[in-house]
Amino acid sequence: MSNCASCHGGNLQGATGPGLQQIGAKMNKEQILQILENGKGSMPAQSHISADERDQLATWLTEKK
Ligand code: HEC
Repeated sequence: MSNCASCHGGNLQGATGPGLQQIGAKMNKEQILQILENGKGSMPAQSHISADERDQLATWLTEKK
């Protein structure tokens, strides 16, 4: 998460990127995985994170609602 925190805030409250505290209410796991794999707008693809870790992150974020 430390990498995400630089743009999304240490508590997911948002910074240069949008807040993710209720992202699970807005997006499902597949949509979050897509963003991690491909990036979105000015968010770069998070391809330095292993597929396993992206999967875990997406599951964790899906529970944020
Ligand atoms: C370099 C800055 C940066 C980093 C690092 C970054 N993001 Fe982002 N992220 C953004 C920006 C900017 C957006 C908004 C993109 C848009 O909608 O155009 C975004 C959007 C998102 C969204 C969609 C939010 C929404 O409401 O549409 C998710 C989910 C997300 N990021 C997750 C992550 C995760 C998880 C990580 C760490 C693995 C991460 N991001 C790392 C900048 C970043």
